[in-house]
Amino acid sequence: MDSIEIVKTKEGIDTLINTRINEHYHSLHGAMQESMHVFIKNGLLALNKNLPEIKILEMGFGTGLNAILTYRESYVLQKQIHYTTIESSPLPMAIINKLNYFEYFGKALLPIFQRMHDCNWFENMTFGDFVLFKINADMLEFKLDGSYDLVYYDAFSPTHQPELWSFEVLQKVYDSCNKGAMLVTYCANGEVKRTLKKVGFAVETLPGPKWKREMIRASK
Ligand SMILES: C[S@@+](CC[C@H](N)C(=O)[O-])C[C@H]1O[C@@H](n2cnc3c(N)ncnc32)[C@H](O)[C@@H]1O
Repeated sequence: MDSIEIVKTKEGIDTLINTRINEHYHSLHGAMQESMHVFIKNGLLALNKNLPEIKILEMGFGTGLNAILTYRESYVLQKQIHYTTIESSPLPMAIINKLNYFEYFGKALLPIFQRMHDCNWFENMTFGDFVLFKINADMLEFKLDGSYDLVYYDAFSPTHQPELWSFEVLQKVYDSCNKGAMLVTYCANGEVKRTLKKVGFAVETLPGPKWKREMIRASK
């Protein structure tokens, strides 16, 4: 049985730890700066500016931090964003409500964040130009049928969940990507880079968020 606890990252913002596998939901150096660097700056803001709308797939909804940061960015981009996210173990609201995220990006986003968690799975939920579609399923079994421009690959690390970084799963992700799509992940593992190349991605190693040397961006 999973046990989830709140821990503070070095920048003061909370994250969670799954004590069964001893894995954090974000870097202990800073949840916000990691999400902003890996997924927003090197993913969302690095995409082809001419895309009329952006279809994002997230592996692991978790606390919803990437989702709310992407929503916030959709204002700046002024583009439709379709955000599909897969999660096998949704977190209880009792935990979500205790996170101190809004000390970091303002109380105005709190009602949106709560609706993102409260809304039904397998139904589109519209927040202005941002459409959220949450899939409550196991990534290993779920058949992806979308066509994505950007993938936030935010699974637990290959050390703890190697099956989520396998050739079969990453190939399934590759097949669901449009030409020119990008996959970004905090992970910089050599074996993961080799697997991404084998499935057909062009792989770049980029500087990581603060206190982490590298991250991966892969393009189709
Ligand atoms: C690193 S955390 C994601 C953090 C999240 N993106 C956030 O912003 O809080 C990994 C997430 O993947 C989920 N997960 C683990 N195995 C999964 C699987 N086989 N299928 C779908 N989700 C899975 C976990 O429950 C956890 O929420």
